[in-house]
Amino acid sequence: MELLRILSPFLSQLLLILLPQVSFAEFNTLPLKEATLADLQLGFKQNTLTSRQLVEFYLGQIQRLNPHLNAVTEVNPDALYEADKADHERRAKAPVSNSMLHGIPILLKDNIATKDKLNTTAGSFALLGSIVPRDSGVATKLRKAGAIILGKASMTEWAAFKSNNAPNGWSARGGQGVNPYNSSVTPCGSSSGSGIAVAANMAAVTLGTDTSGSILCPSSFNAAVGIRPTVGLTSRAGVVPISSRQDTIGPICRTVTDAVHVLDAIAGIDHDDIATIETSKYIPKGGYAQFLKRDGLKGKRIGIARGFFDFGDALFLLKHLSNISRHILIFRQGGAVLVDHLKITNALEIFGNSSGERTALEIEFKIYLNAYLKELVSSPVRSLADVIAFNNKNSKLEKIKEYGQDILTSSQATKGIGNEWKAAVSNLGRLSKNGFEKLMKKNKLDALVTAGEIVSSVLAIGGFPGIIVPAGYEDGVPIGICFGGLRGAEPKLIEIAYAFEQATKIRNPPPLNF
Ligand SMILES: *[C@@H]1O[C@H](CO)[C@@H](O)[C@H](O)[C@H]1NC(C)=O
Ligand SMILES: *[C@@H]1O[C@H](CO)[C@@H](O)[C@H](O)[C@H]1NC(C)=O
Ligand SMILES: *[C@@H]1O[C@H](CO)[C@@H](O)[C@H](O)[C@H]1NC(C)=O
Ligand SMILES: *[C@@H]1O[C@H](CO)[C@@H](O)[C@H](O)[C@H]1NC(C)=O
Repeated sequence: MELLRILSPFLSQLLLILLPQVSFAEFNTLPLKEATLADLQLGFKQNTLTSRQLVEFYLGQIQRLNPHLNAVTEVNPDALYEADKADHERRAKAPVSNSMLHGIPILLKDNIATKDKLNTTAGSFALLGSIVPRDSGVATKLRKAGAIILGKASMTEWAAFKSNNAPNGWSARGGQGVNPYNSSVTPCGSSSGSGIAVAANMAAVTLGTDTSGSILCPSSFNAAVGIRPTVGLTSRAGVVPISSRQDTIGPICRTVTDAVHVLDAIAGIDHDDIATIETSKYIPKGGYAQFLKRDGLKGKRIGIARGFFDFGDALFLLKHLSNISRHILIFRQGGAVLVDHLKITNALEIFGNSSGERTALEIEFKIYLNAYLKELVSSPVRSLADVIAFNNKNSKLEKIKEYGQDILTSSQATKGIGNEWKAAVSNLGRLSKNGFEKLMKKNKLDALVTAGEIVSSVLAIGGFPGIIVPAGYEDGVPIGICFGGLRGAEPKLIEIAYAFEQATKIRNPPPLNF
């Protein structure tokens, strides 16, 4: 007895170490690493897998990998309970939905509110302990579909709207997110944790948010598939905002198919975000999964924007030109019509800092954030001014000396919707109309293809959708290929992205040598 008592702390340590292994052994009928939603649903159907086992598997992965990767800020203490509920419903043949997400654990970026035991903090200590009035619109839809909220994924603090000097993938609460493919390279952000976690099999699927590249970039760097939906296709209600003009919520997953199933679950009308009403006209009858077609490239007009490679990241992206060229062959073989050597003539202006994007976002952030904070049931901070004061007071915790909070303070200095905002937004409209829109319409394109996330701002300022799919590796670091389209282009983009993915299958799981 005495010996057992002395040993017991060690035993519990040992158990902790053994637990994930035990789980692996149990699941030798169905490898859970890299499992797709279809694999998992088949396991449920054939009674070789339960949601409880699945949650236990991902909790084991998080326990083992998160100390190295910092992808997850919190796990849901009720995840196992929700898993049992899902298993029970399935056994009783009364699942709440036929969704591919029934009984599936999903991680949400830490700026997507859930009315449960999880905090929603956008990576900031200022929001720790705040109580949200209700689930976000997308969380409501996920629960309706029967998904299990597994936890919150780390992110660049305030969706990269705190400081120009803060590293991508870093937040005070979540620490520095680590790229699982190469720890010396950024995981990119701001949906860093979602990208890292799904790449490293710490969840079945994840959600991110995108204002200007925050889904596309981490998807590119983590060999994930990211969908940045048309703005308004998915509800932004209950998501810590930057701008209702550009914010959009979308999936980050390991396959196009999984991402499309998640999109099907979250797209649609939410009366707490009126933009979803107008935008719902784009949602096809029967949803998006019908566009997962192997011959999806056939007859598509795909534009290739070489012009981008003259700009900015040119050296990095140039390395990928050879592979882009190889991918062009895939498009041809798939029966696509290629329109090559296109140039968005005003790309430099869009990427430059006088486009108006930053000006408009800074004005909008103050307005929308203040509205979000006011709606909270309780919160340590009630306004952007409070957040700035909190950061100054907790400067060590929030690393204010190291990184500052220059974006927060310039946003706070803005004076609301006035002539400056109108001029900025009107310039963005002009840039979008004379650039991307003109190019798409003039060449009758279904999609514009670019390497990596470089096209992000071009899509973001017009509220346009984009899908990114793994396309290659450089020093072991993944890079994606991005298909962008006009508002509502998701069906065509899905056809193209799926056919490309099926023809190439470039995603490899990360090495994870620890
Ligand atoms: C949420 O934050 C509080 C601190 O305010 C903490 O006690 C609690 O454990 C957090 N919730 C989860 C699920 O981690
Ligand atoms: C960009 O903004 C900075 C100040 O934030 C300014 O110094 C610089 O000249 C601007 N660059 C361009 C190309 O407008
Ligand atoms: C291009 O593809 C080859 C073969 O798949 C691969 O070895 C190489 O790393 C890729 N290069 C880039 C830049 O993606
Ligand atoms: C990681 O990336 C760095 C910088 O690109 C590179 O020098 C290094 O060789 C890479 N490491 C591996 C293991 O590929």
